[in-house]
Amino acid sequence: MKANELTKIFPHPSKDDTNIPLFANASFEMTSDQPNFIIGVSGSGKTTLFRIISSLEPINAGEIFLNELAIHHLKGRNKTKYLSSLGFIDQFPAKYLSLLLTVKQNMDYNLILYSSLQKEEREKRILETARNFEILHLLERKAIHLSGGEMRRLSLACNMIYNPSLILCDEPTSQLDDKTKELIMQSIYKMNELYDALIIIATHDMSIIGKNPTFKIVERRIEKWQ
Ligand SMILES: Nc1ncnc2c1ncn2[C@@H]1O[C@H](COP(=O)(O)OP(=O)(O)O)[C@@H](O)[C@H]1O
Ligand SMILES: [Mg+2]
Repeated sequence: MKANELTKIFPHPSKDDTNIPLFANASFEMTSDQPNFIIGVSGSGKTTLFRIISSLEPINAGEIFLNELAIHHLKGRNKTKYLSSLGFIDQFPAKYLSLLLTVKQNMDYNLILYSSLQKEEREKRILETARNFEILHLLERKAIHLSGGEMRRLSLACNMIYNPSLILCDEPTSQLDDKTKELIMQSIYKMNELYDALIIIATHDMSIIGKNPTFKIVERRIEKWQ
């Protein structure tokens, strides 16, 4: 992914005030070799950047590409197609799950929505993905009866099952105990190993970033931090 000179301005609620940009000429470049981290204090623009990357938030100037695809120009059917190739994970996995359906039904639901696989192939993909995320023993359990960590692993599995090209994780470990945090991060690294998607993780939790490529939002720019 490559962003050149992004500028994003939200209009100020009172018309008399000048609009201060959230991003001004922000540029960055990411590759899918390792998960990429975006850090920045609360309110610095992490979630907005994800919305821009998802094509859901227009920009005022600049350009942003995923490989050759100009995200800032996406419209209509191309935009829909792009959106269905994204995975999204945040601190509220329950938002994206059907709590009264089983683990297996939740996974199948995503395949039916976002892939063209037939039943037999879907079945195979469900088993393979459930194994990867260590939820194979939970396939027949209703999502509502999962623990917090299991629910997050299911949400990762539901995202990965249709082979997205880009996965955005918005504060995926906030408000978790250390053990569950560790589990989630292990699953994210595993995702990076097993699948070919570009993974971007926004966080203000410095304990999870390790030696991975990291970008910091400072003073309306996005700087390479390590
Ligand atoms: N739709 C919007 N209209 C106006 N201001 C917004 C909108 N969305 C976000 N903001 C503002 O942009 C800033 C960055 O928000 P956000 O991207 O959620 O930050 P972060 O995720 O880093 O905490 C905040 O000051 C927020 O209030
Ligand atoms: Mg946020």
